[in-house]
Amino acid sequence: MLLSAVLRLLASLLFAPLSGFARWPVQTRPGNIFMGWPPPPWDATYDYVVIGGGTAGITVAARLAQGGYQVALVEAGSDYESKHPISQIPGAATIGIGSSITTATSVDWKFVAQRVPGANHRDIHYARGKCLGGSPSEGAMQKWADLVGDPSYSFQNTFQYFKRTASFTPPEHRSENARRTYNESAFDISGQPLEVSYPRFAMPFSSWVRRALTAIGMEETQDFNTGSLRGHQFCSMTIRPTDESRSSSESAFLRSPRKLDTLAIYENTLAKKILFGDDNRAIGVRVQQLWDFTLHARREIILSAGAFQSPQLLMVSGIGPGSILHEHKIKPIVTLPGVGQNMWDHIFFGPSYQVSVDTFTGMAQNPIRLAAQAMIYTIFRDGMLTNPSADYLAFEKLPRSSRSNLTARDEYELSWFPEDWPEVEVRPPSMAAPERRLKFVQYIAASAYVGNFSDPFSQQPWTGQYATIIASMVAPTSRGNVTIRSANTADLPIINPNWMDTELDQKLAVATYRRMRDILQMPAILPVLIGPEYFPGSKYQTDAEVLHVIKDTLMTIYHASCTCKMGTRDDSLAVVDHRARVFGVTGLRVVDASSFPFLPPGHPQSTVYMLAEKIAADILAA
Ligand SMILES: Cc1cc2nc3c(=O)[nH]c(=O)nc-3n(C[C@H](O)[C@H](O)[C@H](O)COP(=O)(O)OP(=O)(O)OC[C@H]3O[C@@H](n4cnc5c(N)ncnc54)[C@H](O)[C@@H]3O)c2cc1C
Ligand SMILES: *[C@@H]1O[C@H](CO)[C@@H](O)[C@H](O)[C@H]1NC(C)=O
Ligand SMILES: *[C@@H]1O[C@H](CO)[C@@H](O)[C@H](O)[C@H]1NC(C)=O
Ligand SMILES: *[C@@H]1O[C@H](CO)[C@@H](O)[C@H](O)[C@H]1NC(C)=O
Ligand SMILES: *[C@@H]1O[C@H](CO)[C@@H](O)[C@H](O)[C@H]1NC(C)=O
Repeated sequence: MLLSAVLRLLASLLFAPLSGFARWPVQTRPGNIFMGWPPPPWDATYDYVVIGGGTAGITVAARLAQGGYQVALVEAGSDYESKHPISQIPGAATIGIGSSITTATSVDWKFVAQRVPGANHRDIHYARGKCLGGSPSEGAMQKWADLVGDPSYSFQNTFQYFKRTASFTPPEHRSENARRTYNESAFDISGQPLEVSYPRFAMPFSSWVRRALTAIGMEETQDFNTGSLRGHQFCSMTIRPTDESRSSSESAFLRSPRKLDTLAIYENTLAKKILFGDDNRAIGVRVQQLWDFTLHARREIILSAGAFQSPQLLMVSGIGPGSILHEHKIKPIVTLPGVGQNMWDHIFFGPSYQVSVDTFTGMAQNPIRLAAQAMIYTIFRDGMLTNPSADYLAFEKLPRSSRSNLTARDEYELSWFPEDWPEVEVRPPSMAAPERRLKFVQYIAASAYVGNFSDPFSQQPWTGQYATIIASMVAPTSRGNVTIRSANTADLPIINPNWMDTELDQKLAVATYRRMRDILQMPAILPVLIGPEYFPGSKYQTDAEVLHVIKDTLMTIYHASCTCKMGTRDDSLAVVDHRARVFGVTGLRVVDASSFPFLPPGHPQSTVYMLAEKIAADILAA
């Protein structure tokens, strides 16, 4: 609590003036549209109306405006960063995101997935620091291309879009041991405006995890952004190197030097319904501020309200499973059974130790340490607050020894995932051929106690420093769903993430937990560990006990996606085609994490930007 209060104050002093300044570039233009800020709350007509000012929506809206079109961007929230300046300190990335709803901030939608069976029936707060965890593997993008029937999604063809948004600064400002891992050709000199770099301060625990991963047989890799997710490295992050603040889609595009004067942003404006004209053509969006009004689109409507609210908006507008439309007495425009189905997500969990190096725990416990770090951050833009405290990533396929319990059926299910989904080939000296590794997992070195992640700050133990290796299951076979509570978008949709529903996911999770314990037994990391396993502790050993711990502590990494999935017309669950156009209507696309055909391994942010850039380019080229 104290930590969060101090950081909040610090952030408002440091960044509030900046966010104020970044606030809207817009000028009054001649013609029939008022392009000042804010646009007035009455009917207006634009070329494009974009719903949702998140990662994808801002990107699409900005690119279309830069292309000369008149664009309205409708966002239910308001300038997130000036209201919540703490979000700009990378080291404060964990504020507001605990699994307990009490951690929610004022800018949170306050989603709670209720009584999730796979999480021992706990209620999990699903919040809304960004780690740019790499692009998907070449195999993953080939799978995307195959599934949607469009070769332009291959890695080779999408690489340009992955590079388009990011402006990269190499880690020359870091200490020697944390400097070497990047591939310059993953980035493009003309990429803009999102800043990608590294925290100035590398977490000391990460260097120890690096040694342990090498010792257990994983190779250190140069880079995660050029089509291969294998091995381990310090990951690149969306951090602005000049002041070590977070670079988000919002701050990046708003500070961009490129003109956005044909973009009108409707903040605090809730999209209520997409309106259709003759021939099922999307013609406008009913929106609400103090009263309702309509934004008409001459050309198209782009829906980018995210994995929960894009399907919600489709359903309330008459596009969705017939039974749901019927139940809520919504006039059907087109029945698409896939709307709200097929939700993919990544979960994480992991064991903690007390350690002998400085971690986040120290700052949470001790106001003097915190004050010292705050000073270092303020004056030198250095220290632990430049780092979201989880800065080291690794991807592997679990070794054969960890999958002895899998059945032929399990292997068949997993064969869906491309061969190069996180994998390392390890050549034990005794074997001529590489050991084949299967099952897919990501490890993250986290310099804090994690437990059940209910409230990452107040749950830190009161004495000692703690660290955790967390695993994220990046080949989940359980699928969740999203449905509506009513025909009104002001009522939050119901989220059923369904994590750990399949027995296969449960087996893999248990095997992964054992693997993390093996990593933490490597002699290379022992010098830094103090005492026996602190959490959950050695009394949890059998598969059933370990599974119980996992279900009791698992948390989402907020990678919900695929609830309006892209696919071919013969795929009964597909909602949009390869150009993100909603089947059965015209003038409407869904462009955000919900329109992924599947969730690639790694962190989705780079893929959201890629998709937004690709579809914007597609529209501008037409
Ligand atoms: C706490 C947290 C940490 C994360 N960390 C990482 C990370 O380290 N690396 C990574 O790669 N990814 C990370 N992610 C995931 C990443 O942020 C998301 O995948 C990405 O933002 C999804 O983009 P989107 O455009 O699909 O949706 P969003 O960015 O969620 O945008 C949707 C927008 O639509 C608006 N909206 C919704 N409904 C309406 C409506 N009816 N009317 C008007 N506006 C509406 C919402 O307010 C929101 O602004 C994290 C997510 C969270 C929540
Ligand atoms: C760096 O990226 C380029 C472009 O994708 C690739 O050709 C090259 O092999 C990469 N280098 C390494 C060492 O991975
Ligand atoms: C996996 O196999 C081992 C022995 O091979 C057995 O002890 C264990 O209970 C099995 N676990 C599961 C989840 O089936
Ligand atoms: C997390 O653990 C704490 C303490 O053990 C408990 O009070 C809390 O209810 C748990 N929360 C969740 C969401 O699991
Ligand atoms: C969502 O999934 C759950 C669990 O599998 C199921 O009980 C429920 O009926 C599904 N809801 C919808 C709307 O599909």
